[in-house]
Amino acid sequence: MGLFITFEGLEGCGKSTQARLLYERLQARDYPVILTREPGGTRIGELIRRILVDLQHTEMAATTETLLFSAARAQLVNELIQPYLNTGGIVLCDRYADSTYAYQGYGLGHDLDQLYAIIKVATGGLMPDLTIYLDLTPEEGLERKQRARSGHAANDIEQRRKAGIIPTSVGLPPFSAPSVSSGAEWNRLDARDLVYHHRVAAGFHELIQREPERWRVLDARLPIDQVMQEVEAAVEPLLAGVTQLKDGR
Ligand SMILES: Nc1ncnc2c1ncn2[C@@H]1O[C@H](COP(=O)(O)OP(=O)(O)O)[C@@H](O)[C@H]1O
Ligand SMILES: [Mg+2]
Repeated sequence: MGLFITFEGLEGCGKSTQARLLYERLQARDYPVILTREPGGTRIGELIRRILVDLQHTEMAATTETLLFSAARAQLVNELIQPYLNTGGIVLCDRYADSTYAYQGYGLGHDLDQLYAIIKVATGGLMPDLTIYLDLTPEEGLERKQRARSGHAANDIEQRRKAGIIPTSVGLPPFSAPSVSSGAEWNRLDARDLVYHHRVAAGFHELIQREPERWRVLDARLPIDQVMQEVEAAVEPLLAGVTQLKDGR
């Protein structure tokens, strides 16, 4: 029941941007849709997120990190994702279990079979119907992220919205989730070296090869609205199974 779509890729590749845009497009078409993010998305999950991203937490063990991500995910699946899917709605999630395989597995060297078991406990086995991978090199991603952080980057979405290229969302979401922040934060996980981010990228590509039918790989270097069109094209065939809200809530 419902439709579960996740966005994956390295920091700065445009996940939050594209997840937000898809959310707004679906909402404008009266689809029942919520947007959430990992780690976080719930009150408890956002508290766990703060522990995970804190630059001062240099002593955090890899296992602690994995279990905290999983704890946040368990709360998100139980409190928000699964109940909303059960109503037949669309859930968009900015990162999900694949990030654990890529970052804690391929990146930090945590055993993949163990991760599989932990993820299964945390999610009850729930996996996305579609995962959009926004493909960008670690160098390009970190550069975008740093540019956004130092405030040189124009806020593309806001400018486009003001220019009328991107419509603002219509009405209220049928279910309110905590909002997703901009990509301007710089955190403990971004601060790791480039070699690590290259291992993560290679890990994502291995995950894609293992399950090519679930993933859609898009070139994240294209302009935002071009990527957006490709995201929509990937999602469109799956919308047939979702009932639109009749009263246009
Ligand atoms: N296709 C794109 N081309 C150029 N800049 C982009 C594109 N997509 C996103 N950006 C910019 O890159 C930065 C990171 O985007 P964001 O969506 O926060 O990435 P992520 O959530 O994957 O870390 C933001 O400043 C955003 O405006
Ligand atoms: Mg983001």
